[in-house]
Amino acid sequence: MKIGILTAGGDCPGLNAVIRAVTRSALAAGDEPIGLWRGYAGLAERDYRPLDMRTVSGILHLGGTILSTSSFDPFREPDGVARVMSAAEEDGFDAIVAIGGEHTMDITRRLSELGMPVVGVPKTIDNDVPGTDFTFGFDTAVQIACDAIDRLHTTAHSHDRVMVVEVMGRNAGWIAVFSGIAGGADQILIPEADTTVEEVCGAIDKRHQRGKSFSIVVVAEGAALAFESGERRQVLTNTETDEYGYPRLGGIGPALAREIEDRTGFESRVTTLGHVQRGGTPTATDRILASRYGIKAVDLIREGKFGHMAAIRGGEITSVPLSEVVGLKTVDPDYLRIARTFYG
Ligand code: F6P
Repeated sequence: MKIGILTAGGDCPGLNAVIRAVTRSALAAGDEPIGLWRGYAGLAERDYRPLDMRTVSGILHLGGTILSTSSFDPFREPDGVARVMSAAEEDGFDAIVAIGGEHTMDITRRLSELGMPVVGVPKTIDNDVPGTDFTFGFDTAVQIACDAIDRLHTTAHSHDRVMVVEVMGRNAGWIAVFSGIAGGADQILIPEADTTVEEVCGAIDKRHQRGKSFSIVVVAEGAALAFESGERRQVLTNTETDEYGYPRLGGIGPALAREIEDRTGFESRVTTLGHVQRGGTPTATDRILASRYGIKAVDLIREGKFGHMAAIRGGEITSVPLSEVVGLKTVDPDYLRIARTFYG
């Protein structure tokens, strides 16, 4: 079988581990793995590179993707669908493994409905793809954010400061909640639950009254700056939008730190982790999950389960129909309950 592999959307640690697993599993059965360059653009432009033992050697621990990535969406490009459909058919692809986030899974589902033999593998540091408990890349991002929080603790303590840490998470606050719980944050703000500026400041005041001289606040970039009055603002980096028309988020950290300093009088500083969370070497957990996903993707192809996405549920690798991978997986409120137990 000729098996195409592509990585689409934002990169994340572990992509290369999936590419390696798909390639090795395909080669072991005598199949022909082919890399499609820059996501679905590679199919539309017929930009292919053969994958072999040599190409995937030494990439397990590497961040990024050896196949390059793009957010090319055939459904939004002139003749995009016709181009990718005819490339898949005329160039004899028996299967395509699409590794991507929620948007890529949506494209993949629609192409599957049109008859393309595709399977999905869920990636994103944001962990917001439905149908699976975890996406690879998330564990690495949480570890990076947790390491940062640990480091900020010591300097916050030394200077009696409030440290605000802005982490990624456009629509879901998974990184904020996980790194906040693991790092012992005193307040966590996420897009799913508005916490007002007054609540944050009140909690910090109370903590300082009981003798603490510093506080750590973790905020997801997609959280709104909300006030008791009902005023609610999404903070944006600038007025530009990305290729899908989504606003460029970012800046809630500095805005919140200013509010905290003005209202409580405690000196505040802000750290925005940004793309550091997406770069570099994956954790062992992400390497294992990515490898399991890659092997599962080839298993799905062998079983003829096209239109499915590899998934993990309760620790077991399984699959879900792409038709069930709709919308976003937001944070289970129980995690916020756990986080709140340690505030103050
Ligand atoms: O990978 C998902 C994500 O990390 C979002 O949380 C964030 O808003 C976005 O990517 C930023 O990506 P880029 O800067 O590549 O557009």
